[in-house]
Amino acid sequence: MKRAIYPGSFDPVTFGHMDMILRSAKIVDELIVAVLINSAKNSLFSIEERVSMLEEMTSGIPNVKVRSFEGLLIDFAKKMDASLIIRGLRAVTDFEYELQLAQTNRIVNAEVDTMFLITSLKYAYLSSTIVKEMASYGGDISQFVPEQLIERIYAKYKQ
Ligand code: PNS
Repeated sequence: MKRAIYPGSFDPVTFGHMDMILRSAKIVDELIVAVLINSAKNSLFSIEERVSMLEEMTSGIPNVKVRSFEGLLIDFAKKMDASLIIRGLRAVTDFEYELQLAQTNRIVNAEVDTMFLITSLKYAYLSSTIVKEMASYGGDISQFVPEQLIERIYAKYKQ
């Protein structure tokens, strides 16, 4: 059985993430969407909120599970008995960081491979940061995130 981890901050989840999840779930037997608990990073959404958003968005995909993790991704992959980490590549600008991350992880544990999927062209520009920037100015984010999340995102800026 091929179990893979799709890790990220998901603050918040975007159509780009959903595209990656849907495509990855078709490649592997089980996909664990791993949400980083990062106390140093100032997240807009709490870890519980990010996990529950992802659970809601992936409830219709039977081989997808959502989990939070703390510490090193490679340790979490081992703990989950996953042999693959999946990351999305949007543009060359992503490449340098992703290469470093993948090589570091491979040095620590060569049994876990990193696989890159090229982001669908229509989401190549999209990031959680862009969504937050747009939402903070009250801009239209309906092309960036699932409809059910729009009000939740705006609400963060009304607080
Ligand atoms: O969505 P992001 O913020 O691009 O995801 C980055 C993530 C979570 C994949 C990365 O920051 C990560 O793996 N963090 C956990 C700590 C770790 O293992 N770092 C890499 C080795 S230094």
